[in-house]
Order: sequence, then C-alpha cells, then structure tokens
Amino acid sequence: MSNSWTSAASLTAEQRLDVLNLLNRTEAVLGREAIDEGSRRIVVHGWKAEHWLRHLEGNLEGYALLAGSEHPTIEMCGGRFDQDLLNAVLEVHPQVDWWKRDSHLIEHGTVIRTLQMMRTPLPVDVVDVPAGATLRAFEPRRDEDTWLQQNNAAFAHHPEQGAWLLCDLEERIDEPWFDPSGFLLLEIDGRLAASCWTKVHELHPDRFGEIYVISVHPDFQGRDLGRIMVTQGLASLRKKGVSSAVLFVDQSNTIASKLYESLGFVVEREDNLVRFTAAT
Ligand SMILES: CC(C)(COP(=O)(O)OP(=O)(O)OC[C@H]1O[C@@H](n2cnc3c(N)ncnc32)[C@H](O)[C@@H]1OP(=O)(O)O)[C@@H](O)C(=O)NCCC(=O)NCCS
Repeated sequence: MSNSWTSAASLTAEQRLDVLNLLNRTEAVLGREAIDEGSRRIVVHGWKAEHWLRHLEGNLEGYALLAGSEHPTIEMCGGRFDQDLLNAVLEVHPQVDWWKRDSHLIEHGTVIRTLQMMRTPLPVDVVDVPAGATLRAFEPRRDEDTWLQQNNAAFAHHPEQGAWLLCDLEERIDEPWFDPSGFLLLEIDGRLAASCWTKVHELHPDRFGEIYVISVHPDFQGRDLGRIMVTQGLASLRKKGVSSAVLFVDQSNTIASKLYESLGFVVEREDNLVRFTAAT
C-alpha cells in the first residue's frame, strides 16, 4: 500500500468522516485543537479547499488542508511538519506558508509570523465600565454591520481579521458554540466603541474559555477600554463555570501582549507560520 500524499479538491462523504475521525483522535491525544478552527469548519461543511491525504494500509493517517490563492497556506493535522508533504506541495505551488504548532525544529524555511497562545487562570479582577457607557450582549440580525465596521477599523492592518465580511461573521453565528451572551459590546455616545467575543470550548476534556476576538475602535483606543473589555469578557466566561481562558496574539502585537501579561496571561505555546519556496 502507498504511504505517499495525494491531494483532492473535495472530500467524498467517506473521506470527510475519516478526516473528522482523525482530527478528533488527534485532539484527544494532544489535548488541544488538531487544526485551526477555520480549517475544521471547511472540513465540516465540505467547502472547497485543497485537501492532502496520506493512507497507510488503507487507513487515513495523515491530513492537511491548504487554502488561499495569493499566499497558499497549509496546516497539517496536529500542527506538525512533514518533509514528504512539503515536497509534494512544492511540486504544485511555487511557495507555501506552513502553520507549525509543535516544537519540532525546522532547519529551512523562513518564519514570517509567530502567534502566541496565552492562558490565564480565572477569575481575574474585573475593571468596571465607565459612567455613561453601556455594556450589552451582541444581538444577531441587529448588530452585524456595526460590529463589522468597529472590528475591521480596529484590525485595519491585520492580515486576516481586518477584512471580515458579513458572511464570515454569519458563518460563526451559525456554529453550535456561538453564544451571544458571551459576545459583549460597549457603546459610548451611541457608537460601538469596543467589543469582546468569547467562546467556551465545551467539548474539550479540560473545558476552557477563549477570548475569541477583542478590539477597540481606533477613535477610542488608549482609554482603558481594552483592559475593561478583556476583564469583562473573562468575567462572562467565569460565570459559565470555566476556570481558565486562552487567547491567541501575534508576537508583534506588543500593545495587546503587554495588556494580557498585566492581567495574568502567560505564553503557553508559540505557533510559527513558516514560508517555503520551491528550489528553482
Ligand atoms: C489591543 C487593544 C484591544 C488595546 O485596547 P486599548 O483600549 O487601546 O488599550 P487600553 O487603553 O486598555 O490600554 C492597555 C495597555 O496598553 C497600553 N497602550 C494602549 N495603546 C497604546 C499605544 N498606542 N502605544 C503604547 N501603549 C499603548 C496602555 O498604556 C495600557 O498599558 P498600561 O495599563 O500599562 O498603561 C486595542 O489597541 C485594539 O483594538 N487593537 C487592534 C486590535 C487588536 O490588536 N486586538 C487584539 C488581538 S489579540
């Protein structure tokens, strides 16, 4: 039986189940997500992407998802690196960016982005909302456009998060984990000044919370609203019975990292996006 990688533009129903099985088994072993939440959503919904599969004696034992046309980006189940897969991918794409989420050392390639996963135990001290500001939960079918404007303005320079469309938000609202009571909006003078969207990882063996998206509109930054919204988000997670929370932050986002450290978050893992180019 072949143990080499093959690619497919879509998964058959049987392959989809095999992939989900592999992701679930890997998650149970690693104690964390086997693949980025967005990539898993592509598999769950059967959306278009480049799927890479490796079988051993008829069983699926390797999976990776490649997405994006301008900068093709690949992530392998378990966040690992595999030289055979890289060789196969570089035969099809002149360049690929690889998300590596384990401690395996890679001797070549260039790290172009480092994402830190930080964690804090709960509870933390909560900073009160200032007088005149209103804190309330996101209301689906009412707040979408306003939130997209606020969040895209805050993330204007971010490679992924600054260009969310309505469909990106609606996809997540439709997810079983979506809970508007953990999606907090802060209004000042009738404007959406800041937001903090939290998520509970209900099915994880160590059920924990996540600060999923946090942002302050540029017109309101530097006024303590970031600190207020993170602590209010953590308080809402605590009310749901979780005792620790994580978040992901770009290593280069020093303002946000410093804020999180001051609240007790410590770096637990570093994920690297490594760029590989085919030899010419
Ligand atoms: C990161 C972010 C949420 C912080 O919110 P904020 O309301 O601007 O920050 P705060 O006023 O609460 O200040 C938090 C800390 O950052 C510091 N800070 C805020 N803006 C700063 C700036 N422009 N330069 C340097 N330090 C700054 C504050 O001094 C404060 O530190 P201190 O408590 O030691 O004084 C906000 O800047 C933002 O939305 N950024 C874009 C989106 C983003 O990066 N989100 C986080 C992704 S993980």
